[in-house]
Amino acid sequence: MTGTPAAKPDTAEVVLAARNVAKSYGQIHALKGVNFDIHRGQVTTLFGENGAGKSTLMKILSGVIQPTSGEIMLDGQPVAFTNSTEARDRGISIIHQELSLAPNLSVRDNIFMGREIKGPMGVDFAEEERQVRKLLEELEEDIDPLTPVEELRLGQQQIVEIARALSVDSRILIMDEPTSALSATEVEVLFKVIRDLTAKGVSIVYISHHLEEALQITNHAVVLRDGTMTAYAPRAEIDLEWIVRNMVGENYDLGSPPGGYDFGKVALSLREVTVADPKGGDYNVVDKLSLDVRAGEVVCIYGLMGAGRTELLETVAGRLRSSGGEVVLEGKEVSHLSIAERIARGLALVPEDRQRDGLVQTMTVGQNLSLASIAAFTKGLFTQRKAEQALIDRTIKEVTVKTSGGGAAIGSLSGGNQQKVVIGKMLATQPKVIMLDEPSRGIDIGAKAEVFRLLAEGAKRGLAVVYSTSEVGECLSIAHRIIVMHKGRISAEFDSTVTKEQIMAASGESVAA
Ligand SMILES: Nc1ncnc2c1ncn2[C@@H]1O[C@H](COP(=O)(O)OP(=O)(O)OP(=O)(O)O)[C@@H](O)[C@H]1O
Ligand SMILES: [Mg+2]
Repeated sequence: MTGTPAAKPDTAEVVLAARNVAKSYGQIHALKGVNFDIHRGQVTTLFGENGAGKSTLMKILSGVIQPTSGEIMLDGQPVAFTNSTEARDRGISIIHQELSLAPNLSVRDNIFMGREIKGPMGVDFAEEERQVRKLLEELEEDIDPLTPVEELRLGQQQIVEIARALSVDSRILIMDEPTSALSATEVEVLFKVIRDLTAKGVSIVYISHHLEEALQITNHAVVLRDGTMTAYAPRAEIDLEWIVRNMVGENYDLGSPPGGYDFGKVALSLREVTVADPKGGDYNVVDKLSLDVRAGEVVCIYGLMGAGRTELLETVAGRLRSSGGEVVLEGKEVSHLSIAERIARGLALVPEDRQRDGLVQTMTVGQNLSLASIAAFTKGLFTQRKAEQALIDRTIKEVTVKTSGGGAAIGSLSGGNQQKVVIGKMLATQPKVIMLDEPSRGIDIGAKAEVFRLLAEGAKRGLAVVYSTSEVGECLSIAHRIIVMHKGRISAEFDSTVTKEQIMAASGESVAA
């Protein structure tokens, strides 16, 4: 079933190929001689654990970085791109895993940055705006082209990133985790766009940790493991089990909610928490929401994008101002406290947007991990280095961060490993209540199982867990209780015996998907 790269059953024309491509960063061998083919008019999906080398290979094919050895063949001819503009000029573009937009610029300016449309009077802004409107219409996204990107929610920013790649009219389009922050409806629209593109002969490379989702769209699957290609097969020969087995060597069961103990007292109590629309609209994004979470309990907040989950969690953590209601932690009102004070009292949030809120890009892995717990190590002016180092080493192990060590630059980690650092950083504060906003975004199935195990262990020791997700399966694997949020309110509440369909129906989602 598992063919070698030389024995491909498919005969569709290969447009772009990597031949024996290797890439090393000092002692780290990110790619160890990989062969990879992209077929005309088809979707090739690249699967692999966090740090397997997927983004590295894609960056090489799109000219962002150069291989240490090996060759890139375009239409059968060797090519050597020195930068991504050269690759783009030859029809290859990439949607990056980590958003690469300028937050203070408008959607239009981000899309045309560096390749402005020139008219007789200078930049033809009107034409640029017209093209952006058309692209956003195709993507069925109601965003004004003149909105600054920083005002968009994460998923919309991802759509802008996609629109930018589409605006180039590429013949080869690489999508590195394009859907990690998208809603189910937005994913469907993207898949429609992908089908239209492939029908026109455009070749797509698709990377995702949403394995089922990727299976819907792909024509071929390739699995990378530790910088080596371990399996290749056409769609007809693969299923979920095949992918997971080739990715991690065993099958993961995400398990069921932790049991065998009683819940403790109410750890977190939200009383009619209300948050006005931060953009000034005359409605509440969180509307008089009340919820009690007990020590040892795992509560899942399920909802579609835009249901108000992120706003709720950010308000509870002190990042957003509430316009009414109370946040009570272990019996004490904390609404007036700062983020740091709430963390010190044991209330931690793993935020949705790790690039913006979770990590300091100029710091090392270790500094990022210990940042939120720093108060625990500071005695007067003296930081207890040894204790800090011990915490860093332990956390790296616990959340299985793939890195050369605490001294590595955070930017040298793969996307999923950066996400694990954000989770580890908040767990290291030894919280009493931990809230996680879409924490499994971008992490592989093994790491997801690991995070679930950590949360389950924490819960057994009395940690209260609030887990926000738009994946129903995650709720069923981890939660004692499932809250469905819709338009800022709780629209339904279930215990762990609920079915997937019941949850989806309560969120206003079509169950057919
Ligand atoms: N600039 C760099 N310096 C040092 N090491 C790097 C650098 N970029 C990537 N690496 C390392 O190369 C390996 C492969 O990383 P890559 O980003 O390709 O993984 P990935 O398969 O895309 O993972 P993910 O699913 O987490 O996105 C990792 O071990 C990573 O730490
Ligand atoms: Mg990656």
